[in-house]
Amino acid sequence: SWKLTNYIDETIADIKEKVGDQKVILGLSGGVDSSVAAVLIHRAIGDQLQCIFVDTGLLRKDEGNKVMENYGEHFNLKIKMIDASERFLSKLKGISDPEQKRKAIGNEFVAVFDEESHKIEGAKFLAQGTIYPDVIESQSVKGPSSVIKSHHNVGGLPEEMGFELLEPLRELFKDEVRKVGEELGIPHHLVHRHPFPGPGLGIRILGEVDEEKVKILQEADDIFIEELYKNDLYDKVSQAFVVLLPVKSVGVMGDERTYEYTAVVRSANTTDFMTATWSRLPYEFLDTISNRIINEVKGINRVAYDISSKPPATIEWE
Ligand code: XMP
Repeated sequence: SWKLTNYIDETIADIKEKVGDQKVILGLSGGVDSSVAAVLIHRAIGDQLQCIFVDTGLLRKDEGNKVMENYGEHFNLKIKMIDASERFLSKLKGISDPEQKRKAIGNEFVAVFDEESHKIEGAKFLAQGTIYPDVIESQSVKGPSSVIKSHHNVGGLPEEMGFELLEPLRELFKDEVRKVGEELGIPHHLVHRHPFPGPGLGIRILGEVDEEKVKILQEADDIFIEELYKNDLYDKVSQAFVVLLPVKSVGVMGDERTYEYTAVVRSANTTDFMTATWSRLPYEFLDTISNRIINEVKGINRVAYDISSKPPATIEWE
C-alpha cells in the first residue's frame, strides 16, 4: 500500500542519514522482528550491515542452515554464524531450575554476542528488531509476569557494549512488521512464523538439558510443525511446539518392550499471549502427529496433548 511503501522509503532514508558510512551490527535470530529489521537496514546500507547469528544449539531443527539459506543466500545479507552449541550445553550442565536455565542461557548469549560483536572492527551501531510492544513492556513497572519469566531480548545490552542503537521497527506493531516484511519480499511463511522464546529448547526440555534430549525434541517438533503446514493449520494457531518431559514410560514396539520419554504437543490460540486457549486441533490430525512422532523419533514412545488454557497454565512449560 501507499502508506507502507512510504514508511519503508522514509525509514530507509533515515537509516542512510543516521548511519552514513559507518558499520552496523545486528543480532539475527531467524525470528520475524530481527529478520525484517535486517532486510530493511540492508536495503538502506547494503554490506555496511554485518549480521551475527548465534546458534545456541537450542534452536529448532536445521535452523542455522535455514537462516543462512533464507537470508544469507536469498537476501544477500552478510551473516556471521557462530556455532556456540557446546558453550551453551556446558553452561546448562547440572541445572534443572527453569529460572536458572533462563539466566544461564541469557548470560551466555550476552557473552557470546559481546565477544563476536567486538571482533567486527569499527562498528558504531547496533541494530535491533525492537517493536512497539517491546518498548512498552520494558517501560512498564515490572509486574509478576515479568518476574516469573525474565526475557532476555530487551535489555541495557547495547549501551553497555558501547554501541549506538538503531531500532527501525520501534514504532510498529507486529502485524505492521509483517506487512513491512512482505513488502520487502520476505516470503509469507517466514514473516508469519510463530514466536520462539530466547532460551529456545532450553525451556522446552523440562529439567536438565543435554545434547541427546535436544536432538530428540528437534525431531519431534519438526514433525509437528511440518504437519501443521501440510494440513493448512499453521496459520490458524498462534504458537505450536513440542515439549520433552524427562519422564519415561513403558510401551511396546513390535514384540519388544520400550521404556522412553514422553512428548507433549502444545498449541495455543491467542491475540496478545497474555491469555490463551489450547487449539482445538482435529483428532485425526492429532492421531497423525502422535503416530509419526512415536514411529519416527527414537527416544519417544508416548505423546500427550496439552489441553490447558492460560491462565492458569502458561504457554511454555517452564
Ligand atoms: P508464557 O509461557 O509466559 O509465554 O505464556 C508467553 C509468550 O512469551 C514467550 N516466552 C519467552 N520469550 N524469552 C522470550 O523471548 C523467554 O524467556 C520467554 N518465555 C516465554 C512464549 O514463547 C510465548 O510466546
